[in-house]
Amino acid sequence: MVQATPLLLVLFLALGAHSLAVKKCSLTGQWRNDLGSNMTILEVKENGDFTGKYLTAVSASPLKIKESPILGSQRTTNEKKDPTFGFTVHWNFTDSITVFTGQCFVDEHGKEVLKTMWLLRSHAEQPIDDWKATLVGYNTFWRLQEFMD
Ligand code: BTN
Repeated sequence: MVQATPLLLVLFLALGAHSLAVKKCSLTGQWRNDLGSNMTILEVKENGDFTGKYLTAVSASPLKIKESPILGSQRTTNEKKDPTFGFTVHWNFTDSITVFTGQCFVDEHGKEVLKTMWLLRSHAEQPIDDWKATLVGYNTFWRLQEFMD
């Protein structure tokens, strides 16, 4: 039993190193972005479809902010190690809609980060107002647990 201990230790370390080396991005979980907005992504299905909820920290609308649903799709992780994805946030408190597209990366510290770009479409009363109805921007998201580390 005494001789088996170093062997088990080596096996344990080797398995640990392997699991770090193959660490892949997973969208499932809780995320916070550089604006302080929070989102929760529920299980990503085998075909890449996912749902979730988004609580924005900021709004272009004066109305009270409410948690809003996410509908998205992720390229399946067996295609490439850092998957691309897109999702829509259907705002529950205003008549605008946002689409995000981005990619999940594992940074040099082994932490997952979502780099995204978005379009926020507000409702235009008439076609002549169309030119000012869409905002564009970037957001970076970090996993909430790691944000608090
Ligand atoms: C609205 O103002 O019409 C609805 C809320 C929009 C919030 C935007 S979406 C892009 C950016 N990223 C965030 O986390 N919040 C803002």
